Amino acid sequence: MQVNQSGAKYSAIVGIGERIKKLSAETGEKYLLLNRGVNSVCNIDLSQVVKEIDFNSTKMQVYPSSQGLQELREAINATYFENIANDSNIYITAGGMSGLDLIFQTLNVEKIYLPSYFWGSYMNVMKIRNIKEDFYDSFSELTTNIENLKNSAVVICDPNNPIGGKYSDEKLLSLIKLLNDNGVVIIYDSPYRRIFFETDNFYAKLLTFPELIIVDSFSKSVGLSGQRIGFVHSVNQDFNHELGIRLMYATNGINAFSQILIQKLLTSVAGKKAVTDFKTETCDGIRKNIEYLKSKKLLATEFYHETEPKGIFVIVNKSEQELLEKKIASVSLSFFTRKYKATAEKYARICVSVPHNEFVEFMSRF
Ligand SMILES: Cc1ncc(COP(=O)(O)O)c(C=O)c1O
Repeated sequence: MQVNQSGAKYSAIVGIGERIKKLSAETGEKYLLLNRGVNSVCNIDLSQVVKEIDFNSTKMQVYPSSQGLQELREAINATYFENIANDSNIYITAGGMSGLDLIFQTLNVEKIYLPSYFWGSYMNVMKIRNIKEDFYDSFSELTTNIENLKNSAVVICDPNNPIGGKYSDEKLLSLIKLLNDNGVVIIYDSPYRRIFFETDNFYAKLLTFPELIIVDSFSKSVGLSGQRIGFVHSVNQDFNHELGIRLMYATNGINAFSQILIQKLLTSVAGKKAVTDFKTETCDGIRKNIEYLKSKKLLATEFYHETEPKGIFVIVNKSEQELLEKKIASVSLSFFTRKYKATAEKYARICVSVPHNEFVEFMSRF
């Protein structure tokens, strides 16, 4: 059998998780899993909202529209865009990863710029789609290099994975404006932002930028990575047309249950309460954990010159091995960079979205 070999690889993070499970089974000892990328301060409580779902409805049981349920697109417009976007510019995808893949295959660009410390899946999807990568260290570097960015796209992730740093919204907006005005495509992929905001008018401010594509996900913001659902928004109609066609033939529509569930979470009283409770408890846990790291001088402050450490990840000044000796699972920062591998070996990415008491129990071992 002849196979198209892309050269893309499974994430190293999956391997770390399996190694820890084995270690834990062999030694009978408890490990704190900070290697993962999911919120686990608490679960979202869906018990009230599922009562509102009619499982015997046609909407639930037959093919949804390939662009996504109209009611869900309206709910996203209201919650994310202050109701001033056009529902027809919103496309429901099977999570952020699938949204990114569709964006990468739809765009015709020379290369895509990623942050120097980046989520590895970007590059793997780009490899499968035959797109060249380049890297930027900071917003200042992009600003001074604007002439060389023509025919390229730039990925912005804020707060970023793996660093967890958040730029101010003013800085984000001025960079986006500069890129847009110079014809550089911006892929705004910030699935962690909404955990920290109940209401947020930031996306509404982005509607004037024709070169900007938003991709978002409900995996992190409402803790439902198992539902595989997210969305893409752009005001560029050529892009939207091609994206819509590709979405149709890649998916034949996104799971109707997950679409109805998210629509209820965004619109009903019980749904909104579940989201608010989840975000309040999650943010509280994250904030306390970051404060604790600061007080113990474990936070690698050298990574937060232009940004604020916000979560759900942060970088600590301990290596993956040093953390493992204290039974803490993490991911070496070197997995997240091509440019700075040697320096990054000394640091690890940890997920700080875990219960505070457990976090302190393990981190106090340093
Ligand atoms: C930066 C970033 N973008 C997008 C995603 C996609 O998540 P999902 O496919 O679950 O929506 C992730 C998941 O870890 C991520 O870290």
